[in-house]
Amino acid sequence: TFPTPNDLKDLQGELGFPKRVENFIFFTIQDPAGFKHALKQLQPLITSTAEVQEARKHIQEFKMRNSEGLMKFVGTNIAFSAVGLKKLGVTESLGDVDFENGQRKDAHNLGDTFITDSSGQSVPDWLPAFKSGVDGVILIGGDSLPSIFEQKNKVEHILGNTIHEALVVEGQARPGKEKGHEHFGYLDNISLPGIKNLTKIFPGQQIVDPGVLVVGQDGDKLKSSRPAWAKNGSFVAYRHLNQLVPEFNKFVNDNPIVLPGLGRPEGSALLGSRMFGRWKSAGAPIEITPLKDDPALGTDDQRNNNFVFDESAGQTRCPFSAHIRKTNPRNDLSQEFVAPHQMMRQGIPFGPEVTFGEETLGKTGPGINRGLAFVCYQSALDDGFSFVQHSWANNVKFPPKEDGNNQQLLIGFDPIIGANGGDPSGRTVNGIIPTPLTLPIEWVVSKGGEYFFSPPISALSGKLAA
Ligand code: HEM
Repeated sequence: TFPTPNDLKDLQGELGFPKRVENFIFFTIQDPAGFKHALKQLQPLITSTAEVQEARKHIQEFKMRNSEGLMKFVGTNIAFSAVGLKKLGVTESLGDVDFENGQRKDAHNLGDTFITDSSGQSVPDWLPAFKSGVDGVILIGGDSLPSIFEQKNKVEHILGNTIHEALVVEGQARPGKEKGHEHFGYLDNISLPGIKNLTKIFPGQQIVDPGVLVVGQDGDKLKSSRPAWAKNGSFVAYRHLNQLVPEFNKFVNDNPIVLPGLGRPEGSALLGSRMFGRWKSAGAPIEITPLKDDPALGTDDQRNNNFVFDESAGQTRCPFSAHIRKTNPRNDLSQEFVAPHQMMRQGIPFGPEVTFGEETLGKTGPGINRGLAFVCYQSALDDGFSFVQHSWANNVKFPPKEDGNNQQLLIGFDPIIGANGGDPSGRTVNGIIPTPLTLPIEWVVSKGGEYFFSPPISALSGKLAA
């Protein structure tokens, strides 16, 4: 049964590096033969799940995960796009259509905005590197900038001119008390799937077969047809998501939910938390505490994910369109329909903190880019990221609910990530009194990304090497 000691050594450290900073080096392969040769030398630098588990044990032993302390740790992973694998001479299909096509072909489906370029062509409004495509990404995460720079130098020394660095994204946890919070201010990465026999399981957590995340393991729907060398790999969705934070804050401040006994700031806080489904401060679920924040509940990992949605409550506790309900509808669907759509999120914020000037104007400053380097792992993109973005977040009739007359309710898009080619109409959030509030703009703006395959470590000195 999974995981054997070999699986743990073979699987890259997808479980998540204990990281405060992370660099994503998106590259194109310039010299495939040279690269294949260098890959063998790079392999010892690639961090396995076994190594991550070991590091996490020590970090816990030394109680270093709280406040500012993180033990020195560096984790390095590598993943390839379909184009990249072809350059390395892989001819057989891995069986994932979204991966084979690449994310750019999926841009419409994902709801990304298109613009007309100088030659009159309609192209997604993406960063140039993603528009022209990359062959792979090296992820280096760790406790501090010096640690990851040292590692980045080693990696660059080994790969030399065999690659061209098309884009380097510098992810960084937010400072001080905001650590672990994304740029809108909400605590992230609370609800992640638990993997049978591998991760510690918390009450209320969705428990999945390893094959939902890991290729070739039980629960992978294509287990029997995957090439043998791909076992213990995983598909990665990277999304470069800009966040318009001052704009979001202004909207929330201007539109407090009005309820007896609720002041203006509390009404605004309630509106924001209803867009996510969790309170800002520590992630307490509004399903459990719908009107008032409860930070102690948020920080209690025995309780903060232990809930299902109360059918009889309608939207009075959690709106149907709340981000966490759109992306993991729990008991809104039966278990067999929710389990295959779980993914392991491992994103990190990028960009500077909001300035006083931006906050006052309610507008992101010119040339300022901040957001989420969104990363998630799954064994099938058309069940994981691609499906969830397209069929749930961007689907105005999801989750399926009926009004009193058996008519399907119009729920609206996910107010955070729902996207419709730049058209914000249809992005709504329900107040406690069910008058949907229409959201003026998309405050999460996709700048593209790519789909990658994170191969098993054995392939780095085997199938993919020379
Ligand atoms: C949960 C923020 C993009 C999928 C959350 C939570 C926050 C958050 C604050 C609550 C913490 C938790 O329950 O773990 C954001 C922001 C995004 C973003 C600010 C964009 C800038 C995405 C995308 C997807 C996604 C693109 C996938 C299509 C999820 C899932 C959960 C979640 C699956 C957990 C829901 C649950 O199990 O209850 N997100 N997210 N998020 N998000 Fe996002």
